Amino acid sequence: MRDVDRMAADVSSSSPDLQERGTIATELRDLFCGRPVLVTGGAGFIGSNLVRRLVCLGARVTVVDSLLPDYGGNLFNLRDVRDQIWLSVTDMRDRNGLAYLVKGQEIIFNLAGQVSHEDSMRDPLTDLDINCRSQASLLETCRQHNPDVRIVYTSTRQIYGRPKYLPVDEDHPLEPVDVNGINKLAGEQYHLLYHQVHGMWTSALRLTNTYGPRQLIRHARQGFIAWFVNRAVRGETIKLYGDGTQRRDLTHVDDVVEALLLASVNDAANGQVFNLGGELISLLDLTAMLSQLCPDVRYETIPFPEERRKIDIGDYVARWDKIRGVLGWTPRVGLCDGLRGTIDYYRRFGDHYL
Ligand SMILES: NC(=O)c1ccc[n+]([C@@H]2O[C@H](COP(=O)([O-])OP(=O)(O)OC[C@H]3O[C@@H](n4cnc5c(N)ncnc54)[C@H](O)[C@@H]3O)[C@@H](O)[C@H]2O)c1
Repeated sequence: MRDVDRMAADVSSSSPDLQERGTIATELRDLFCGRPVLVTGGAGFIGSNLVRRLVCLGARVTVVDSLLPDYGGNLFNLRDVRDQIWLSVTDMRDRNGLAYLVKGQEIIFNLAGQVSHEDSMRDPLTDLDINCRSQASLLETCRQHNPDVRIVYTSTRQIYGRPKYLPVDEDHPLEPVDVNGINKLAGEQYHLLYHQVHGMWTSALRLTNTYGPRQLIRHARQGFIAWFVNRAVRGETIKLYGDGTQRRDLTHVDDVVEALLLASVNDAANGQVFNLGGELISLLDLTAMLSQLCPDVRYETIPFPEERRKIDIGDYVARWDKIRGVLGWTPRVGLCDGLRGTIDYYRRFGDHYL
């Protein structure tokens, strides 16, 4: 049994009792210190926050990112850890480059993706290549060159489509309403299939809207929260589609990072999918919260643009009891504090994101 597996077994048996964050942090340091870990999409929003945490935990981190223009990859996200990681500017669509990168890794956090729903509708084949084909390619490369590696994949609540009931649990029907949702669903299912058929160690987290520092906020295609933050920092008007009463479940990026780490070292996560959640709020109330932090920000409601209305999912509320029960994860960062930290970050470093 490898060290990482043995220690993971220890954490699995003890994590229900680990209530104190400090205790978990110490356990995680023991688990990650010196471990070879690969993060795909590691220059992006969630990936770079994860990489920074892994560096703090003493992991030996390799980052793979294509740094494609207009996607979330940004070298500024990694500026102060650059000399502590190995960065490979590689496109996951290039299968030849992957074998070398996956060899010798003990854990792969597989975050690389095309995240814009609008772009997936305009250019479905690029979304297919990145979110579906490249995922199959990574898994197949691992099967051939490193079948014992642990892989944690970032899936999305988008795969549920328009909720048939709330809160949405992991058994909810999977009926995505856009191309991105279909390809992310396929990407997730490939990970589960490689567990079921080939016995590989894989796990998938279904993320909901994630916010925090280091997200691309330059354009409006990276999710509404990124664009609202842009408008707030610039003191511009936020345009709410419809009446603004649609509710979303927001998770701070630090909580997502914690979930990724816990999933990767806990054998109970193997072959499983888990919803993440956070704090529930209507877009109208979110705007009011932002205007407390940025007094210049205003909002107006406008009718849904037709292309947005067709792929909108309405209210979304996650049930995340499963990950709490199995991995002991709960979101810790309150929305108001999380938004304050986010706004502060962009006020300081906005030049690198706007
Ligand atoms: N942010 C959210 O609210 C959210 C919600 C649900 C799921 N997710 C998933 O989490 C993951 C990370 O999302 P994010 O918000 O950090 O997005 P992001 O755009 O900031 O990061 C994605 C990273 O992947 C890289 N990438 C894209 N295509 C690539 C390719 N072909 N080869 C190599 N690298 C490539 C990009 O350069 C970028 O750095 C994605 O898989 C996304 O689908 C995010």
